[in-house]
Amino acid sequence: MSTAPSITDFHNHLVPGVDDGAQEPADSAAALGRFRAEGASQIIATPHFMGSLTLDRERGEARLAELDAGWELLRAVVSTDGERMGSALRVERGAEVMLDVPDPDLSDERLRLAGGPFVLVEYPALRLPPVNAEFALEELRTRGWTPVVAHPERYRNLDPTLVELVRFRRAGAFLQMNAGSLFGDYGKTAAGHARRMLMAGEADYVASDYHARGEPGLQRFVRAMGDAGFGEQAELLTMTNPARLLAGEPPLRVPPIEAKSESRSLWERLFG
Ligand SMILES: [Fe+2]
Repeated sequence: MSTAPSITDFHNHLVPGVDDGAQEPADSAAALGRFRAEGASQIIATPHFMGSLTLDRERGEARLAELDAGWELLRAVVSTDGERMGSALRVERGAEVMLDVPDPDLSDERLRLAGGPFVLVEYPALRLPPVNAEFALEELRTRGWTPVVAHPERYRNLDPTLVELVRFRRAGAFLQMNAGSLFGDYGKTAAGHARRMLMAGEADYVASDYHARGEPGLQRFVRAMGDAGFGEQAELLTMTNPARLLAGEPPLRVPPIEAKSESRSLWERLFG
């Protein structure tokens, strides 16, 4: 049995027909094939869910029923894929919860990553609230859940010093970067934030945020980081730490990309 670590992806939109990701089960099936091709073996599917719905019983239950139906479709796709390929991918259920209220009730396990203690959260409209953005994160911690902030590098008003991220971390949250950010898939500003996060060791995880179009991009990230001399960081970000999350454990600290190392200049040639 191989002991080589493999990729665990816990941010993607693979559940068919429930958000702006996969629309049909065939899209989900094709997406699973792409994850396999990139070496991912464990996946948590995270459809969008508005946090405010947890405070509105009727609308919240209607949305969860929609997600339940989509999840059953995905389970069927996963089982067919497993039979065809001779081995099943591990696919778990989660959600990407929008913090459109500061105090969503995430006690329903369908809203947490694989039903464990971690919750994937994002702020509305790709902007951080101007004050007390970390308040919602502290609230979640107080209630016993561990927030993971999705793609912080994409927030347009993130300070280049990453001061907000230090506050998020102090509030007990962890940070998940999108694999494509480093390559400019979300624009130059996000690419700059992504680079600074890696140089500061402020990213805990890298995930695909795959919407079932194009490629997940995890292998591209692992390869580019490895070529630049940062294979250790890439493995922690895409394999070790996401697998720990799935096991309910906190991430290991990812070493910053050292300012004076040989590899730093290689890094600058590649990404600078
Ligand atoms: Fe997402």
